[in-house]
Amino acid sequence: MSVVETTRHGEVTVRDLSKSFTLNGQRLPVLRDLQLDVRSGEALAIVGPSGCGKTTLLRVLAGLESPDKGEVLIDGHPVLGVGTERAIIFQEPRLLPWLTVLGNVAFGLEVRGTSRAEAETRARHYIRLVGLAEFESAFPRQLSGGMAQRVGIARALTVQPEILLLDEPLGALDAMTKLTMQEELARIWREEKVTMILVTHDLEEAIYLADRVLVLPKEKGAGPRLMEVNLARPRDRNEAQFVQMRRRLMAEFGLH
Ligand SMILES: Nc1ncnc2c1ncn2[C@@H]1O[C@H](COP(=O)(O)OP(=O)(O)O)[C@@H](O)[C@H]1O
Ligand SMILES: [Mg+2]
Repeated sequence: MSVVETTRHGEVTVRDLSKSFTLNGQRLPVLRDLQLDVRSGEALAIVGPSGCGKTTLLRVLAGLESPDKGEVLIDGHPVLGVGTERAIIFQEPRLLPWLTVLGNVAFGLEVRGTSRAEAETRARHYIRLVGLAEFESAFPRQLSGGMAQRVGIARALTVQPEILLLDEPLGALDAMTKLTMQEELARIWREEKVTMILVTHDLEEAIYLADRVLVLPKEKGAGPRLMEVNLARPRDRNEAQFVQMRRRLMAEFGLH
């Protein structure tokens, strides 16, 4: 009898993860014995006050930072640095100013050896997905903040990662653009079926997008908490259950 291993894609496991920094000769513990299981295709939001370690956790997941203790597994395999199955999106898209939208989005594939023609075909698909088909020849300086961030998202998706790591991707956008982009992220996540790990300080954004919310506390004594968001999609911010969920999440931080 043969044992067939079930294929997992984009499953993230964090075991006993600890990370501290040294600042002015003082040891500063940031993450302590963190445990986390992110299912394949899940949308997980990470929220917490400034300085609680959200970016640090995301950087460890991305392989940009190594933990002091514990490990991160992707589909059961330990993470040893950056990998092509993970893409990270920062608050600032950091586009290359001398390349067009198409050039920026195709760039990641071209540096990996994909032919220009094929890279551009794939890039066009994702540029369309983020609603920028008419702007593929535009340069970064000709784009609004929201459009530039869409290019950043298309660029990350073009290399077809299984896991999308986002660090406050909408944090620099104005309120209206942010709402539109949240809807787009929800749609892209659904269509691309990627595992999404989203750091945000916006509690409503977390509830709008996530299956579960990881709450990182500021006080190092308190442990992290996970909240299930059992709301039908697409989500409605004004619906009673949504409002109730937001109130519960705010209460986690002593907010009303
Ligand atoms: N490279 C570093 N060297 C020293 N301290 C750091 C470094 N990166 C982060 N920190 C510290 O770790 C803590 C958590 O930072 P960070 O993960 O960026 O928080 P968040 O993203 O939740 O605001 C902060 O106190 C910060 O000063
Ligand atoms: Mg941060």
